[in-house]
Amino acid sequence: MNHPAKQFNRKQLTVLAIESSCDETAVALLRGKGDVLSFLSSSVASQAKIHRRYGGVVPEIAARNHIAAIIPLVKKTLAHNVPDIIAVTAGPGLITSLLVGVHTARALSYIYKKPLVRVNHIEGHMYSSRLQPTRGASNFKLQISTMQFPALALIVSGGHTELILIKNHGNYKKIGATLDDAAGEAFDKAAKIMDLGYPGGPAIAHRATYGDPLISPLPMPMLGSGDYSFSFSGLKTAILYRVRDLKEQGRYTDEMRDHLCAAFQHSVVTVLVKKTCSAAERYKVKTVLLAGGVAANLALRQKLAETMLRQPRSIPVRIAPLPYCTDNAAMIAVAGYFRAQRNKFSSPLSCDADPAWEL
Ligand code: KG4
Ligand code: ZN
Repeated sequence: MNHPAKQFNRKQLTVLAIESSCDETAVALLRGKGDVLSFLSSSVASQAKIHRRYGGVVPEIAARNHIAAIIPLVKKTLAHNVPDIIAVTAGPGLITSLLVGVHTARALSYIYKKPLVRVNHIEGHMYSSRLQPTRGASNFKLQISTMQFPALALIVSGGHTELILIKNHGNYKKIGATLDDAAGEAFDKAAKIMDLGYPGGPAIAHRATYGDPLISPLPMPMLGSGDYSFSFSGLKTAILYRVRDLKEQGRYTDEMRDHLCAAFQHSVVTVLVKKTCSAAERYKVKTVLLAGGVAANLALRQKLAETMLRQPRSIPVRIAPLPYCTDNAAMIAVAGYFRAQRNKFSSPLSCDADPAWEL
């Protein structure tokens, strides 16, 4: 396929983006020129209610719901616009979910004869942390904030807990990750143990505001390990036994549950912030980025920003605006837009999903 790629870094571009890596079907339409981006549309069809009764995402059910949602969402998003580029999340994620988005994007690329850009979901989250609403403009007008290199990204979601060193545009090195559960997964599992429903992060964060983290404190896994690895499965076990003991003692009241939520959030946030902070110092980074579903956690947002500000070098922190923390296609559109400017295109005949795609 012949792509007029070279012209892309100068002219105004309209990007149609599709995200379906987990349980959100999302489609966005972005118009960009240089570093100023306007979203014409960004829609998310969440399946959270469907998966709630199972206490987590069921891949087979997620895929079937993506199939039902995706075409109506693309039609609604495009309205009468014709995109210049089609961007799609190709991984990492659930393979059955990814395939729905990738094959839809391939078909659209083929029909419209427009270039296709494969986007890494983690790179998408990273770009979301650089979105800044433009002063005086509507919510949908965003600007890409500047980022000085080297930068460090903390990506925390239901599937990932990663510290990524960004040496330059598109040049990434993973320096730390979870050895077991992701931070969001830990929130979800802890919430399930405490009967707080799915997704667990927002429920625990809400209850934590009424609790005291010191009443029934929990461990801070790997806080002093001296590396950038995380482990959250022990924390989930600790909460399981704590709830069991409190129930046996007849002390598992609503109030106690709030204290447990506060303690759980405090442990996760403390570990994430401490490790991010020491990596930032060690690699002498000039910017810290925070993104992913768990970045919606206000305690984490506040503590990371405050801690970085208090560092001897006072490192600026860029945090994804709240609506762009959890999975969305706007972040995929932005990542796709910049990949197109670097002439990174794929063929609609061979573009494939990769559930374990490493940055
Ligand atoms: O990025 P995301 O939408 O999906 C993945 O790529 O995994 O992240 C979803 C995760 C869920 O585990 C959810 O519980 C968590 O983000 N989450 C939160 C909050 N809001 C969502 N965790 C902690 N505090 C929150 N306020
Ligand atoms: Zn995500």
